[in-house]
Amino acid sequence: MAEKTLVIYKPDAVRRNIIGEITTLFQDRGLKMVGAKLGWYSREFWEEFYAEHKGKDFFERLVNYMSSGPIFITVWSGDDAVRVGRQLAGATDPLQADPGSIRGRYGLPMPMNTVHCSDSLESAEREISLFFKTTKFLNGNKTS
Ligand code: CMP
Repeated sequence: MAEKTLVIYKPDAVRRNIIGEITTLFQDRGLKMVGAKLGWYSREFWEEFYAEHKGKDFFERLVNYMSSGPIFITVWSGDDAVRVGRQLAGATDPLQADPGSIRGRYGLPMPMNTVHCSDSLESAEREISLFFKTTKFLNGNKTS
């Protein structure tokens, strides 16, 4: 079923100039990029984005890392987009990820795992609206 998912190319990906390589992997799996922007977000933003991880021992490191530089934020549309994104990203920890996955190939020590992909349709909806509140996407659908 056609759905949308959010993929963030994290600061380590933008810094190393591997936006093209990552984008090709999603395109090769038949997904279409329907929204995209570069941005640089504050600690406060990431505290809200990652609210479910508040209190965990890595939370401060995660928020510091995500606010350390520019990110590339994308919305992908296509059949089973959420699951395809999770499969391409691979396991959260690059050391555990399949070497053929994005994190297995490009990931650095945690929390620098190169990409974030929405983990469910519900979180995709929430995350897309955090970044693209009033955006009309290429496929003609608004987020809200
Ligand atoms: P992401 O898929 O964006 O979701 C939460 C993020 O927290 C994760 O990728 C990592 O960047 C980070 N993270 C999760 N677990 C750990 C950990 N044990 N140590 C450091 N960072 C982590």
